[in-house]
Formats: sequence, C-alpha cells, structure tokens
Amino acid sequence: MSQNRTTLRDVRRLLESEEPIPMVTAYDYTSALLVDRAGIPMILVGDSMAQTMLGFEDTLPVTVDDMVRHTAAVVRGTERAFVVADMPFMSYQASTADALRNAGRLLKEGGAQAVKVEGGSAVVETVSALVGAGVAVMGHLGLTPQSVHQLGGYGIQGRTAEAARKLLDDARALEKAGAFALVLELVPAELAQEVTDTLNIPTIGIGAGGGCDGQVQVWHDLLGLSLDFVPRHASKYAEIGTTILEALERWSADVRERRFPTEAQTSHVREAIDLGSKVLTPPAE
Ligand code: KIV
Repeated sequence: MSQNRTTLRDVRRLLESEEPIPMVTAYDYTSALLVDRAGIPMILVGDSMAQTMLGFEDTLPVTVDDMVRHTAAVVRGTERAFVVADMPFMSYQASTADALRNAGRLLKEGGAQAVKVEGGSAVVETVSALVGAGVAVMGHLGLTPQSVHQLGGYGIQGRTAEAARKLLDDARALEKAGAFALVLELVPAELAQEVTDTLNIPTIGIGAGGGCDGQVQVWHDLLGLSLDFVPRHASKYAEIGTTILEALERWSADVRERRFPTEAQTSHVREAIDLGSKVLTPPAE
C-alpha cells in the first residue's frame, strides 16, 4: 500500500477537525486518477455503476465480479484516496459466510480498503462479523437503492416518526457493530443532523442536507455526464457530457469532410519502398 494512502485514522482526524469530508464515486482507472489528483480523500466504487456504467435500470444486476474488476481499476488509478467498494445486492444478505467471502474478494482481488453494505438491523450481525474479521465497513441508511422494489421507488426516507426513530436506532446499532462511517441517502436534513449529532462515526450524506460530516456524490451527476436526468440532490460542477458530445460531433464532421487526420497526425515512409507493383515514395520536402 502507498505510504501516502488515506487511512481510517486520517478519516477520523478529519472528523475530529470538523472539516467536512468530500467523497465521490469512481468506477474506472481514469476517473479515479482525476479524483485522486483533486485531493478528494475518499472514493466509493458504487454499485450505482449498474446504471452509470452498464446501463441497467437499478443496482440489482451488479455482480461481485463486476465490483472486483472495477474496484481494482480504481485502486490502480489512485495513490492517496481511501477506496470503499460497494457489496452488491445478495452478496451479503443470504449468509455471513457469503458476506465474508465476498468482502474478502473486494479487499484481496479488488484492493479496496473498505466495503459498504446497505441496511439497518437486518445487516448488523453481518457488519459485526465483517469487522470481527478485520474488514472496515461503511453502513448505508435512508434510501437504500438495493431495496428499491421494497421501498417502492427512490423517494425521501424517514419522514414519519416511526421511520425516523427506526433510522436513528439502526444508525446506533451499526455504529455499535463497528461500522466506521455511515452513508445517509435521501433523508430529511433534520434527521440527518440528529444522526450526525448522536454518532461518533462520520455520516456521509447524499441528499441529506449540509449537517452531515461529509458529502458523497455520483461522478456522472457531479460532472454533467448524466445528460437526461440530474437528481435534485446533485449540482452539476461541469458540463462534461455536453463537452464530449460537441467534441464527437466536430470530430466526426472533420472525418466526413476529410479535415481529419492532418499532417500533424500522419507519418510517412522515410525512403522509397518498392512493392513490386508500385514504389511508395516519401513526400517532397
Ligand atoms: O452506489 C452508489 O453510488 C452509492 C451512493 C449513492 C452513496 O451508494
């Protein structure tokens, strides 16, 4: 491991210094390299890759093999960032043995520093077992996309007293089980603030207001790569999608109009080459 790589101790220090922690998703070598160069201390190899990279409707189809391959690419692109890999749907829910085996693959083959699991009381024992085996685990409460069909969509969670109390109880239970941090997705800001004030581990919000200890955003939303839809909790910091589209349109027009390639992209024979049927000659100086 690189000596400069962010560790959990550094994450803890950020929490103690009350400096908000930025985290962003990355799914490949190039994007990870850019995140690392930007000095962002934490990367999530999210199973949102299902939608952003693979074109699925939800996160459910992502496999452990997908996650391992993309996590390894992200790790190769980074020297400093702390890399958390999502455990995909049904890679940890069926049994603790599955959870241990699959988390092991994400760490051993993928090179992740930590894994993330979704859910509250239902996964507390699993979190405990993973932590007991030496795996750093991040929790994820609120909107848990792997349960999209059970939740009936991607709406804000924790709006009723019962749901808010359950979320707070789950947060406490995950901390007690040894989770080192907690993602809070799409929960009212007041509830996220209460969870943040209650826990001693960092909360990382997405659509959970400004009171969390950190913020996580999806690469494509942040950079304007999702051309057709940007969720309300995201803000575009660039229009990369439009920039790429315009570049591709200009380049393809140049090819069609024979403006590309130019001499700058072209090489020539250095001396005459006799092919038998024809002699290839270098261009006149
Ligand atoms: O997969 C993902 O991108 C996530 C974030 C939305 C937190 O879990």
